[in-house]
Amino acid sequence: MREDEDLFDINNRRYTGSKYKLIDWIKNLIEENCPGNVFCDIFAGTGVVTDSVLDIYNKFIINDFLYSNEVIYKGFYLQEDFNGDRLEAYKEKYTLLNPDNLEENYVSINYGDKFFRNEDAKIIGFIREDIENEKSSINEKEYYILLASLIYSLDKAANTVGHYDAYIKNKEIKTKFNFELIMPKKLPNKAIHIYRRDANELANEIETDVTFIDPPYNSRQYSRFYHVLENIAQWKKPDLYGIALKPEPENMSEYCKTAAPIVLKDLILKLKTKYIVLTYNNTYNSKSSSSKNKITLEEIEEILNEVGKTKKFEKSHQFFNAGKTEFSNHKEYLFITEVGEK
Ligand SMILES: C[S@@+](CC[C@H](N)C(=O)[O-])C[C@H]1O[C@@H](n2cnc3c(N)ncnc32)[C@H](O)[C@@H]1O
Repeated sequence: MREDEDLFDINNRRYTGSKYKLIDWIKNLIEENCPGNVFCDIFAGTGVVTDSVLDIYNKFIINDFLYSNEVIYKGFYLQEDFNGDRLEAYKEKYTLLNPDNLEENYVSINYGDKFFRNEDAKIIGFIREDIENEKSSINEKEYYILLASLIYSLDKAANTVGHYDAYIKNKEIKTKFNFELIMPKKLPNKAIHIYRRDANELANEIETDVTFIDPPYNSRQYSRFYHVLENIAQWKKPDLYGIALKPEPENMSEYCKTAAPIVLKDLILKLKTKYIVLTYNNTYNSKSSSSKNKITLEEIEEILNEVGKTKKFEKSHQFFNAGKTEFSNHKEYLFITEVGEK
């Protein structure tokens, strides 16, 4: 496979709450304060935090309950061989597709001229079906590389502000879909374990040195924000509802509900880990009610102080918002707790 800049890297996607812009700050604090061998990213999202510490630790646990995120982690990180020429041949086949020769399909019927230009939606639906049909001719790694590549490529062409809660109406959709491949990571001597689990359930089963905790803090559900990616990743073709064409709810996080402080405490108390690294931002004072935090800064500090000596770091930061919310004096906090040390 080519090694050029056309290939997607793991950070080349839009994702609410991605820590990419803060990554140097986060990495340095982790490196300075958290010695060890095993790193767990239990609400991994894009995966950029794990990606930044790959050179520091030897074993990684990367988890998120979304299907599309699991596909992405497997595409980038499964340490299995793949045939680069074969993948290039798929890319060429997909690049040469002419929408005029394609039939309407699940993606074009539902999302055409809404989330994507209709001709692009036809191509996206065709490619998704083709990847499924080719499953027996390719290995698991190749399957996930193609699927992750499709997700990155279609996300780039989507007619949205960065998530799929709505598409932009009354606008000619100009962004054109191009199928590009991701750049998988070769990591000899590293062990990477990928999970799609509820964080609190997974915590019962793992033992780590460092656990990075970055849950959602407001009522906006990631499974609803990224429903188009989830639907295309799963490819069960369910009926879709409403203007934003969402499927029946799935993976609704307790962290987005009033029980959030209780579930966070449950997680922190049961983690078998030496260091907890937790990020938090102060969207609590925002005007939009869906942006109001479910957990206060004081609650976070109280929970962490219960399990060990906690250091607090802070940084001013401007982050992604969809327009309704004003974040003045926005701060990102990072807590590091040495578990068991008071
Ligand atoms: C703030 S984002 C993480 C962002 C990530 N640190 C990054 O830099 O891309 C929170 C993530 O938690 C996931 N999530 C929410 N509730 C969860 C749960 N109960 N178990 C596992 N993952 C969950 C969401 O799907 C979302 O990707």
